[in-house]
Amino acid sequence: MLNDYLKYRKARVNAHGIHSPFVFEFYNEIVKKHQTEIDSKIEALRTNLVRSKKKISFNELGAGSRKGTENDRTVKSIAKHAATAPKFGGLLARICHFYEIESVLEFGTSLGIGTSYLAKHAKSITTLEGCESVLELANENFKTLGYHNVNSKLGEFSTLLNQFEKDTVFDLIYIDGNHRLEPTLDYFEFALNHSHDNTFIILDDIYWSEEMKLAWEKIKADERINVSLDLFRLGIVCKRTGQRKQDFVLKI
Ligand SMILES: C[S@@+](CC[C@H](N)C(=O)[O-])C[C@H]1O[C@@H](n2cnc3c(N)ncnc32)[C@H](O)[C@@H]1O
Repeated sequence: MLNDYLKYRKARVNAHGIHSPFVFEFYNEIVKKHQTEIDSKIEALRTNLVRSKKKISFNELGAGSRKGTENDRTVKSIAKHAATAPKFGGLLARICHFYEIESVLEFGTSLGIGTSYLAKHAKSITTLEGCESVLELANENFKTLGYHNVNSKLGEFSTLLNQFEKDTVFDLIYIDGNHRLEPTLDYFEFALNHSHDNTFIILDDIYWSEEMKLAWEKIKADERINVSLDLFRLGIVCKRTGQRKQDFVLKI
C-alpha cells in the first residue's frame, strides 16, 4: 500500500496538468473545494457512533474489514473502520450538488454515513446492505438526519441486483462493499448496464488489496470507459463516449 501511495504521489497532477475540459472542471469544482460540504450534522452523528460501545451481531458478507472480523462488533469499530471518511463524504456531496445528480445506487450502506452524504443533494438514493443489524442502525440514522429520500434494501448484493428493472438507470453508482476481484467486476458490469453516458461509477478502496488493484486496472482498461480518475482512496470512471480514452491521477 505504501509503495502504491508513493507511485500515486509521483503520478498525480493538479489543474495545470489537465487538458480535458471535463476533468479540469471536475478538479476545480469537486476535488479542490475540499472544505465545502463536510456536514456538521453527519459528522456529529459519526462522533456519536465512534463513541458508542453498543455491540451488534455482524454477518460478514463481503471481503470484510481487516479490523474486527468477529461476529459481534461494536458500533464504534464499524464507524471507525468502514464509514466513508469526511473528506470523501464531502466529495460525494459536491459531485451530487454540482452535477445535479438525481438517482444514486450505493453498494454497502453500513451505518449510512456515505449514504447520508449522497442523500444531501441527490433526489433519491437506493442503498444495499446484507447485514440486518447494521442496516437497522443506518435506517435510524437517516431518520435522525431527516433524510426521506433513502430507500434501503436488505440482502446479498447479487440477489438484490436481480430485482432491478433492466431499464433502470442511475446518475451515480457508488460501489463500497465486498472488495474482491470477481464480485467487483460483476458490480461494475451491472453499473455499466444501468448507467448513461455521464453516470459517475465510483469505487472505494481501489488500492486496498491485490484483488482491488487488479479490479481497478481492468475497469480503467475497459473499452466502454473513456475517463478514469484516480484519487487513491477512490476511483471514478465515466463512459463519456466521444471523449479520448484517458486515465487521470488527481491530487486531492
Ligand atoms: C465499507 S462498508 C460500507 C460503508 C458505507 N458506504 C459508508 O460510507 O459508511 C461495506 C458494507 O457492505 C456490506 N456488504 C459487503 N458485501 C456484501 C454483499 N455481498 N452483499 C450485501 N452487503 C454486503 C457489508 O455488510 C458492509 O456493511
